[in-house]
Amino acid sequence: MAGLRRMYARLLFVVVGILGPVSAYFGTSWPCHCRNCAWLPPSLWLYAGGMNEAIRPGAESPPQAGTTPQLSVVVPTFNERDNVTTLFRRLETALAGCDWEVIFVDDNSPDGTWDVVRGLARQDGRIRCIRRIGRRGLSGACIEGILASSAPCAAVIDADLQHDETQLPKMLALLQSGEAELVVGSRYIEGGSADSFNRQRAGASQFATEVAKRVLGVKIADPMSGFFMIRRDRFEQLAPQLSTQGFKILLDIVATARGDLKVKEIPFTFGSRLHGESKLDSMVALDFLGLVLAKLTHDVVSLRFLMFAMVGSIGVFVHFAVLYAALRVFAVPFPEAQGAAAFCAMTGNFILNNFLTYRDQRLKGFAILRGLLLFYLVCSVGLFANVGVAFSVYAQQPIWWLAGAAGALMGVVWNYAMSGLFVWRKR
Ligand code: GDD
Ligand code: MN
Repeated sequence: MAGLRRMYARLLFVVVGILGPVSAYFGTSWPCHCRNCAWLPPSLWLYAGGMNEAIRPGAESPPQAGTTPQLSVVVPTFNERDNVTTLFRRLETALAGCDWEVIFVDDNSPDGTWDVVRGLARQDGRIRCIRRIGRRGLSGACIEGILASSAPCAAVIDADLQHDETQLPKMLALLQSGEAELVVGSRYIEGGSADSFNRQRAGASQFATEVAKRVLGVKIADPMSGFFMIRRDRFEQLAPQLSTQGFKILLDIVATARGDLKVKEIPFTFGSRLHGESKLDSMVALDFLGLVLAKLTHDVVSLRFLMFAMVGSIGVFVHFAVLYAALRVFAVPFPEAQGAAAFCAMTGNFILNNFLTYRDQRLKGFAILRGLLLFYLVCSVGLFANVGVAFSVYAQQPIWWLAGAAGALMGVVWNYAMSGLFVWRKR
């Protein structure tokens, strides 16, 4: 029954997706009354409202009840139920006199943070909550939160009160006066500090900052900060190139803008977390590395692809280790040994990809088994593609390493593309 309903929904989606462009082509105004967004797929209609407003400022529509606030404060949350109410009260005090709203972006926190936010929102219309299901990631949450706003300015602030919300009016004034397009709450300029960090965390943060400055040529003192405010129109220009993975959204924004963004830093003291614990784990180093590489290659290679390829290289290693052990230690005949090696490599790759490459869309429970079987299928076809390309290159130019590399590249691109489509599908 549910399957049938889903099928109908998909059918409707396809029909609407086709009718949209067709109606745009013939100049009709269905399904939306503005032609600007008729060609957009339904999933983008949400954003189209904001785009039309930007295209046609002050359109002749009749006056609406309530106006767009000047500032949207975006708060990414994951297991912060004990902090959100205090944060909201503090925002209320700090922003008294401003026209503002707050958008919580919660990744379906097991502690029910979204439920607490909904409760608050029922009492105060300035609060909104985006509950994301099947997705994880601080950067992606911030991007979605800012894109859901129609205010001219958007701020990002942590929910745990480690950032100083009393700086928000000053940051807003800098954007409104045109002195800056991006204002960064900085721990590493005079007047700022991060004393609450332990030595290990302080060292890692400073090392990453140095790498960002030297390798990516980022000019600001604290590109790792998670506290900033930006003009929404500037953000929307950069948004399509930003990575939704990882923690380093500010670094991504600054590196993507490549100097074409008026930035100002103001000092603040990074405090201690009120309740709960940090979600930053050792994987964040890997994310950082991926982001640096992606920006260095002008986004030709994505962080996810790099990670997928890296896992693939580990798979090659696993394959040879198992093959060697099966042949030499267990004296298994070659075809069986090769089969076992491929099986182990594919299984290992699936597990690693589920934990690293796609950890924001990690498969859980029964979906793991389904995903694993699909992954075997995808990789088996990828192997044919690999061998086929290698053969044809070798037939043209009998250089073994060139043919091998061409085959491997074909295999990894195929596996990556198909895994994204079938195994770790975006919801
Ligand atoms: N929606 C969502 N999804 N929110 C998340 C996720 C996620 O996967 N992971 C973390 N958050 C939220 C937290 O609930 C919190 O409100 C905020 O993002 C920051 O997360 P913390 O876990 O408190 O990070 P931190 O304090 O260790 O790190 C902070 O400081 C770093 C500077 O050293 C963050 O602001 C980092 O962005 C910043 O780089
Ligand atoms: Mn924190």
